[in-house]
Amino acid sequence: MAIRKIARLGNPILRKKARPLRPEEIGSPALQLLIADMIETMVDANGIGLAAPQVHESLQLAIIGFDEGSARYPGMGNQPLEVFINPRITVLDPSLQEYWEGCLSIPEIRGRVARPRKIQVDWLDVHGNAKTRIAEGFLATVFQHELDHLEGVLFVDRIRVEPGQTPIAFLSEYSKFGLATRDAVSQGEIED
Ligand code: NI
Repeated sequence: MAIRKIARLGNPILRKKARPLRPEEIGSPALQLLIADMIETMVDANGIGLAAPQVHESLQLAIIGFDEGSARYPGMGNQPLEVFINPRITVLDPSLQEYWEGCLSIPEIRGRVARPRKIQVDWLDVHGNAKTRIAEGFLATVFQHELDHLEGVLFVDRIRVEPGQTPIAFLSEYSKFGLATRDAVSQGEIED
């Protein structure tokens, strides 16, 4: 296993639509190694999710995992580390919720993003078994942020800037000016 280099904003790989994994690739030693490396890389970077394009592999593969007990995401629920292959999102409730988001590929930046509050995710697990889950709240946003990476979309693309508002900030200013708490619509913060 190894910690892989994370692609940063400006690297064209982050803008490519990732290709689906073929059935024969699922469970292969090469894929198992990639998944193990992604987990190690995400843990090392203190992320809560990581998509394969972020480690220079343009494949429809992402991992998500966070712990309610962590100081960084208190009260955000619990998501045991899980692998998502060829995932698809269906919006169940298009009404919007807003969270402050960050991204390991866009370090030191936070942005406020509105996304549908309830979705269904269908994917294959590491054994190739079809899975489905309904997610709402924080987890719904994490899924959408992560699976956007597989389409070449980054959270900064989804920030709506309006006069007089500060929906995007450096992390230090985000903290210094208390943007998370000052802004009534913000509910939390993610980084993946
Ligand atoms: Ni990200």
